[in-house]
Amino acid sequence: MSFANASIPAIDQAAEAIASAKCVVATTGAGISVESGIPDFRSAGGIWSRYPPEEYASIEAFLENPSKVWALWRELGDQLGACRPNPGHRALADLERHAKLRAVITQNVDNLHQDAGSQDVVEYHGNSRRLVCLDCGALTPFNPDKVARGVPHCPCGGLLKPDVVMFGELIPPAAMLRAESLARTADVVIVVGTSAQVFPAAQLPFTAKERGAIVIEVNTEKTDLTRTITDVFLQGPAGIVLPALAERILRL
Ligand code: APR
Ligand code: ZN
Repeated sequence: MSFANASIPAIDQAAEAIASAKCVVATTGAGISVESGIPDFRSAGGIWSRYPPEEYASIEAFLENPSKVWALWRELGDQLGACRPNPGHRALADLERHAKLRAVITQNVDNLHQDAGSQDVVEYHGNSRRLVCLDCGALTPFNPDKVARGVPHCPCGGLLKPDVVMFGELIPPAAMLRAESLARTADVVIVVGTSAQVFPAAQLPFTAKERGAIVIEVNTEKTDLTRTITDVFLQGPAGIVLPALAERILRL
């Protein structure tokens, strides 16, 4: 489908591509959760402008000073726990329910896609609602009120950390493999709310594009993807654009 046809509004071109596709996959970043009250990382005033990632979000920093990193995670845990899915998350869950979306690959750890009803969610960077023991690998739910103050430990004595991928850690192999397979299978990829700066997540739309997929991007600003592989750029907040897109798709 050529997108040179500027006479058709971009959102209608996107809706038609998705409605007629065999396998549609969404990849999402922090931008989709901004309208749920969670700041993104790299926009002005984003999380990294207040908590330098090398001090708070790398596995080295965590092992060096777990209590400092845990202080941030408690604050974030309280904030994340109070946040609810927005119409953007719900629109993707709707499309999945109507078999117009296969899966969501998310870099977010806020569980809002699952809370919105999405069933097939690839947690590419883990999930902040779980804790993992660095010694025995046991997973436990993270309930900020229940977790012991200070630095929580596993009954085995191991250090507990939020089950999220920190800088310097590997992407969970199962998530990596599933995301790669989805990117190779998709004939349409909807890229929502990511600056596409962090690899290997940022590679996924390129993998799909190399196999001929159509790339639809939803973002408030242009990104490196917009300037390279995006076929249809829908500029605007995900909480507005995605419901409008879903409404058009489900009407076709
Ligand atoms: N709707 C759509 N897009 C938005 C919105 C919105 N309401 N608000 C912001 N954005 C866009 C920004 O323009 C930006 O391009 O979302 C993107 C957010 O980019 P980042 O803050 O870099 O977040 P993300 O791409 O998810 O970061 C990837 O980096 O720090 C790591 O592990 C962290 O998963 C994260 C990864
Ligand atoms: Zn343990």
